Amino acid sequence: MPKLTVEGYGTFDVANDKRLVLAIEQDAGVDILHACGGNARCTTCRVEFIEGEPATQTVAEQERLAARNLTGVRLSCQILCDHDMTVRAISRLEGSGRPDPGGQPLEIITPPAEWIQRS
Ligand code: FES
Repeated sequence: MPKLTVEGYGTFDVANDKRLVLAIEQDAGVDILHACGGNARCTTCRVEFIEGEPATQTVAEQERLAARNLTGVRLSCQILCDHDMTVRAISRLEGSGRPDPGGQPLEIITPPAEWIQRS
């Protein structure tokens, strides 16, 4: 069972291959945003990795981060918890001015994951 550490919140056991956005929300109890419902469109689920950044990413994540010129962050809706990770939750409902965190992400990665090595 992988361990997820969210800076300032603690360390939690997470079901293998659980979507990181759901693990942060459900296991760590963090009010992370996921405005597009986990579809690699909004980038509000972004996190900073402190340890254990995956070497792979989905094509959808790579394209969205490039389109928004975002570096140093990853989209937690496009990552599976398959090893121990330590992240910083930098995009939370509190202070965002939004009424809710966004649509509920499905349990599987959407759009269907096409894996590539991280660029
Ligand atoms: S990009 Fe929108 S929830 Fe991840």
